[in-house]
Amino acid sequence: MAAFDPENRGVVVTGAGNGIGAALARELAARGARVVVSDIDADGAARTVAEIESAGGTAFAVAGDAASEEGVAALVATARRELGAIDAWYANAGVDRGRGLDTPESEWALSIDVNVMAHVRAARLLVPEWVAARGGRFVVTASAAGLLTMIGAPAYSVTKHAAVAFAEWLSVTYRHQGVVVQAICPQGVRTGMLERSGELEELLSRDSALEPADVATLAVDALGGDDFLILPHPEVGGYYAARASATDKWLHGMNKLQQRLETKETTR
Ligand SMILES: NC(=O)c1ccc[n+]([C@@H]2O[C@H](COP(=O)([O-])OP(=O)(O)OC[C@H]3O[C@@H](n4cnc5c(N)ncnc54)[C@H](O)[C@@H]3O)[C@@H](O)[C@H]2O)c1
Repeated sequence: MAAFDPENRGVVVTGAGNGIGAALARELAARGARVVVSDIDADGAARTVAEIESAGGTAFAVAGDAASEEGVAALVATARRELGAIDAWYANAGVDRGRGLDTPESEWALSIDVNVMAHVRAARLLVPEWVAARGGRFVVTASAAGLLTMIGAPAYSVTKHAAVAFAEWLSVTYRHQGVVVQAICPQGVRTGMLERSGELEELLSRDSALEPADVATLAVDALGGDDFLILPHPEVGGYYAARASATDKWLHGMNKLQQRLETKETTR
């Protein structure tokens, strides 16, 4: 079981200006990591860095797009300059766009870019260095939607499945060369994304929405091992097993849930 001690290591967290990413950055810095805080929201990134510094930690704000090919290349180059080596990469930035079959092409494209291609583009630049050094961590904030599905949200569900699939592929391909890959798959977490999820907020909050700090503590604790799945809501493991072992029963149950939501909407 490989352990990764964050003390004095160089770590990048994307989407760290808000929500889960900000909590991950604070937790990693509190455990001694030097953290590059990346976000397209420059004010958010600066805020997270100020919080880390006021707690005595070391962090660098890098504002910019962590999804496009040029954006990822610029982030990797800046992070290498600030940190020396990048020991761990938290591919955390994500978007939840569109609802139903009317989800526009542009929202599908953005979801694919941020939720999937960002990870591919980062891994392409990082993994060769990690293989040469025989060590590195790639941690993807996917979602329970990547193991199950998210009612109403096809672009989110499909791209989070792809995020998990890419992480699995990376693990399968590079595990023996020292690259440890982990996928954080929470259900509801109290962040701006959950607040913006409309009628889904209630559904996702009902099964005990977590605070970002709880997810971050669990995820950073998981650096002590190399388990692939990090499940802040442990019940997700049971749903995932049920989906695999009794797929039709699971789909039927999810459709019942969809119908209940539709009924609720029409009686509003
Ligand atoms: N909140 C939840 O209930 C929940 C549940 C499961 C998984 N997740 C996942 O957790 C991750 C973090 O989400 P959150 O809930 O903290 O949401 P959030 O909206 O609070 O934070 C996401 C951050 O990512 C940044 N971002 C978006 N696109 C970016 C880009 N191209 N480049 C750089 N930064 C970008 C945003 O500016 C924002 O600061 C996402 O991948 C999300 O899908 C969230």
